[in-house]
Amino acid sequence: MLFEKENYKDKKSIIIYFSRADENYAVGYIDKGNTEVIAEYIKELTDAEMFKVERKIPYSKEYRACVREVEDEQENDERPELAHTLDNIDNYEVVYIGAPVYCGLLPQPMVTQLEKLNWSGKVVRPFTTHEGSGLGNIPRQLEDICNGAKVVDGLAVRGTSVKNAKGKVEAWI
Ligand SMILES: Cc1cc2nc3c(=O)[nH]c(=O)nc-3n(C[C@H](O)[C@H](O)[C@H](O)COP(=O)(O)O)c2cc1C
Repeated sequence: MLFEKENYKDKKSIIIYFSRADENYAVGYIDKGNTEVIAEYIKELTDAEMFKVERKIPYSKEYRACVREVEDEQENDERPELAHTLDNIDNYEVVYIGAPVYCGLLPQPMVTQLEKLNWSGKVVRPFTTHEGSGLGNIPRQLEDICNGAKVVDGLAVRGTSVKNAKGKVEAWI
């Protein structure tokens, strides 16, 4: 039997994402983060709004220093301050949540932001960029944080292949 894939494309949507430019694993210094490239494809395909989560004090530009900061932050389960906050998602049915996998998990600034929102009745579609971990533990983490939302099928794209991933994003949408 054929099952129709749920049509999320025409629902009121927002993309909440984190992405870091500067020096990164496998790609060197980049002007635009990998996750942002995917977020922009999703916007093009769905006409969703976009909200970029930004740490008030950005992570180091240098990759190794950034990893140390992220490890400390995760170990201490910190909620880093944000440059700006999204207050509510009342106008949206579907929320695309995008992030690089950081040591298997969401970047902590995403946790700061997502915990502030009321998730009741929302559909959450996770997407990640990564260098081998796929979605990591992010869907499970989102089940916890986005209490009351339905977390559905996620999309994982390798950071090194985002520029060729538009077709993959389209198939997932
Ligand atoms: C602090 C840090 C931790 C990372 N941890 C992982 C990881 O656990 N698994 C993985 O596959 N990639 C890991 N990566 C690679 C990133 O997920 C990958 O490069 C991603 O595409 C970066 O997205 P961005 O450019 O949008 O920030 C890590 C990168 C950084 C900077």
